[in-house]
Amino acid sequence: MMSEKLFLLPGDGIGTEIMAEVVKLIEWLNAAGKTDFTYESGLVGGCAYDACGEAISEADMAKALAADAVIFGAVGGPKWDDVPYEQRPEAGLLRLRKDLQLFANLRPAICYPALADASALKRELVEGLDILIVRELTGGVYFGEPKEITELGNGQKRAVDTQVYESYEIDRICRVAFDLARTRGKLVHSADKKNVMKSGVLWDEVAHQVARDYTDVTFEHILADNCAMQLVRNPKQFDVIVTDNLFGDILSDAAAMLTGSLGMLPSASLGAPDPSTGKRKALYEPVHGSAPDIAGKGVANPIAMVASFAMALRYSFNMVELADQVEAAIAGVLGDGLRSADIMQDGCRQVGTEEMGAAIIAKLSA
Ligand code: IPM
Ligand code: MG
Repeated sequence: MMSEKLFLLPGDGIGTEIMAEVVKLIEWLNAAGKTDFTYESGLVGGCAYDACGEAISEADMAKALAADAVIFGAVGGPKWDDVPYEQRPEAGLLRLRKDLQLFANLRPAICYPALADASALKRELVEGLDILIVRELTGGVYFGEPKEITELGNGQKRAVDTQVYESYEIDRICRVAFDLARTRGKLVHSADKKNVMKSGVLWDEVAHQVARDYTDVTFEHILADNCAMQLVRNPKQFDVIVTDNLFGDILSDAAAMLTGSLGMLPSASLGAPDPSTGKRKALYEPVHGSAPDIAGKGVANPIAMVASFAMALRYSFNMVELADQVEAAIAGVLGDGLRSADIMQDGCRQVGTEEMGAAIIAKLSA
């Protein structure tokens, strides 16, 4: 077996605690002869700023570019509220996404049966929920130029962000969404604001063109605001939702909460497959943030982080069976009534980060 190279970037806050559980899982998988991973760790976010004055160092960027997959924790915290904008913790994550050209962000929102009552919505609305949000990740208003604040000289300032998409960017993200829809419910909703934005008009035009190549998949347009509303009204009407960078950021937080807690949601950020090797750059991260309020207390939920690692097994290493097993182990411990504080329910047993991680590995070895 060829050894696969992982680059771990735990980041700030609870990032280090939840990444520690992934490391234990990697060690266990290697020891069981199921994988042959090598791994190295680096710094990103506030901790990198403290160490080198940047949200990620050039040396760590180079390691990320050379890795078979990057496993990312979370960045940010009040400690770095006042650092310059270019060096803020989030800049490290955005640079990774941009330089690795990770244009396709997959955010599955699955409601585990044991957690249907932990959702803010009624059980019948979320039971069996299985949505995949496909978010464009390297374009749009996150990266468009100009992006600036200028002094107008009259005591006023002017701020500009630029929402910009070219057709190839829309085309490739829509194809990812349609390809994935083929493997699941065969339904794609494309969310934009074509009623007020030119970028939305182009988005919809290209999405319709792509849809013509997928006659076996049902295609629906939806306005992004209506999509937000429908997500909390009747989320099970959706299968795959494809949308731009900013709408995807917002809609995926809403979708995450349907599943019980932001602490449950993994994500994969993928580049295009290399034409000669078929390999693609990839970064895997939980959708939640660094939760500075609970950092260092050992109570953070490691499930989104472990599930993100399972997505790495699936999408970077084609270890589909193993990914299924890790996901089943997560469902299993939840079924046994183990809960971290964020998803605690009556009649369940509350456990900390380490105990949850250990229980998932115990399930895998059972
Ligand atoms: C996310 C986060 C990031 C984003 C932040 C941390 C820059 O909210 O991954 O959803 O806005 O993309
Ligand atoms: Mg977000």
